Formats: sequence, structure tokens, C-alpha cells
Amino acid sequence: MTAHRQHLDRLWQRGREFLGSDVAVMGGAMAWVSERTLVSAISNAGGFGVIASGSMPPEVLREEIRGTRALTDRPFGVNLITLHPQLDALMRVCLEEKVGHVVLAGGLPPGGAIRTLKEGGARVMCFAPALVLAKKLIRSGVDALVIEGAEAGGHIGPVSTSVLAQEILPEVGHEVPVFVAGGIGRGEAILSYLEMGAAGVQLGTRFVCATECRAHPRFKQAFIRAGARDAVLSSAVDTRFPVIPVRALQNEGTRRFQEKQHEVIARFDRGELDQKEAQLEIEHFWAGALRRAVVEGDVETGSLMAGQSVGMVTREQPTAEIIADLVDQALAALRRRDPASE
Ligand SMILES: Cc1cc2nc3c(=O)[nH]c(=O)nc-3n(C[C@H](O)[C@H](O)[C@H](O)COP(=O)(O)O)c2cc1C
Repeated sequence: MTAHRQHLDRLWQRGREFLGSDVAVMGGAMAWVSERTLVSAISNAGGFGVIASGSMPPEVLREEIRGTRALTDRPFGVNLITLHPQLDALMRVCLEEKVGHVVLAGGLPPGGAIRTLKEGGARVMCFAPALVLAKKLIRSGVDALVIEGAEAGGHIGPVSTSVLAQEILPEVGHEVPVFVAGGIGRGEAILSYLEMGAAGVQLGTRFVCATECRAHPRFKQAFIRAGARDAVLSSAVDTRFPVIPVRALQNEGTRRFQEKQHEVIARFDRGELDQKEAQLEIEHFWAGALRRAVVEGDVETGSLMAGQSVGMVTREQPTAEIIADLVDQALAALRRRDPASE
């Protein structure tokens, strides 16, 4: 092992120990994308795959966990959406199936969820969108945090990864392992977040075009063609009708969403809809749209959730090669700084 590799391994040692993986790179859960083949491929390549449970009912999740375990004996995690109406049953499935790490996403976890999971033997990770919430989650007993900046694909907060990292890592990076996500496409960026005190990183967009990823070929093609500026934010057009901002590739669907909001709000202003009906109609616009794009390949009107790092996705590649490239890029950066200590 080279001196540079030893240095890198020291930098992400806490993350590796926490995850039980060779490299502290998590494959961020992506609904419909992060199923057994991609998750196991990431874990088998030395990273840490995470199943996206999305809207799965509990027994489907159980099958996915078992299916993943049949493909890897390395550790992997499960991502649960806290707004899921069957969250308790999903947590029970994770504990019964002895999932080592559960990532709670989609808002602060309901009271007791962290304790239930920990008492059941799982390690719990949560997303911290701001420093005060990071501290609150640590007080609630969370084992590790993910901080995800606005560069990321999917549902996002307003603050960039670089700012979140500066605000949160120096304050709580020594208390629990913190994994940085959003906009990471290369190893040099991984190295710099580790040097800022991160325990590891989480990447989503970069893994979509992994050979083992079962996303539809048209979904992958859209990623390969797109540049950073194509991954845009779709947000509310009127503050009276808030929507959770989503970063996705611009397409007919994102254009129609703008029109839809204007149309619904005009009907509300004319008194044809009440507030709740209008809000629901806006929210329902994207129902099933990610599945349509990922599974059926409807890249025109489906949701092409993608982060700005999509510009660094240039071809389909085996998962192991993607992870090896990230590690090589981090090592090359160390080598450039200090060529003598090879
Ligand atoms: C298509 C897609 C679907 C996603 N679905 C989820 C999800 O179900 N749960 C979740 O916590 N994060 C989800 N994310 C976020 C990823 O887990 C990860 O944090 C993010 O992609 C990291 O930023 P990056 O895209 O810049 O690498 C999704 C991201 C994408 C691109």
C-alpha cells in the first residue's frame, strides 16, 4: 500500500469503521434506482450501498433486503422516508431482517423512531439540513449524519454543500461521523471534504449510469447527455402554494409543471378551487413521475431527478470502476502535492 493510500485510509477511517466498508463512499439511496443490483454492486465494490425504500410497502422492502443479501455479504443500508404512512412497519422489517444501518430521510424523524431503531440493534443516520438540526439530532441519539447540499439530485434544501460543510463539520464533525452529499463527482472533492472533517461522502447521480444500475437506458442516456446546468430546480411559482424543491433535468415535464401551477393558481384565484384542493392538485402533478422515467424510460414527461454532478457522468461504467476512479482521483491529488512520498 502506498503512503498516499494509507493517508487516504486514515482520513476516512471513521467512516469506514462506521459503515464497515473498504471506502467511506455511500451510494445515496435513489428511489426506483437503488434496488438490489446497484446496492449490492456498490457494496461489493467496497463502498456502501443503500436501498431506497421510497413508497415500498413493508413486505416488498423485506424482499428487497433479502434479494440484496443474496447478492452481497458486505454491509448495506436501507433508506426510509419518514413521511411514509407505514414507517413503523418498515422499521420493524429492517430490524427483523437485521439491517445494520437505517437512513431516515424526508424530514426530521418522528419522536421515538431513532430510539426504536437503536434499541433494535440498527445504526441510525439522519439528514441534517442545518447546524441547529444537526445538534438536535445528535441529542436525540443519532449515530451519524448526512449533510446534503442544494447541488444534489432529488428533493433538496436551499443551502449549498460547500456552505453546509463549513457550517456543520467544524462544529459536530468530531461528535458523530458526518457524510457529505451533493455535487460530488470526483475524488478530489471527496478528499477535500474529508480534510474538512467529513467521515465520508454520499454520491447519487454519479452511480445512475453504473452498468449494474437497472434504470431504463433512456434515463441513463439523458444523464450522459446532460451538463451541470441542465439539472435545474423546480420550485413553487407562488409562495401561497409551497412545493418541496426538486433538482431534475429539464424536460417537457418540468415545463408542464410550471404551466400546471399557473393554471391551478388561476382557478384558485377565480374561486373554482379551495386552498387545499389547489395544493393537492399541484402536489399530485409528479405522482408516479420518477417511476415512469426510471422504469419505463419516459424521459419526456417523467421526472429526471439528477444533481449538478450529472455533467461528470459521461458514459456507462461498471460500479467497481466508478469507485476505483474516485479513489484514484483522490490519490492523484495527494500525489501532486507530495510526489516524493509515493
Ligand atoms: C434519482 C434520484 C432519486 C433520489 N431518491 C432519494 C430517496 O429516495 N431518498 C433519499 O434520501 N435521497 C434520494 N436522493 C438523493 C441521493 O440519495 C443523494 O443524497 C444525492 O443524489 C447526492 O447528491 P448527488 O446527486 O449530487 O450525488 C435521490 C437522488 C436522485 C438523483
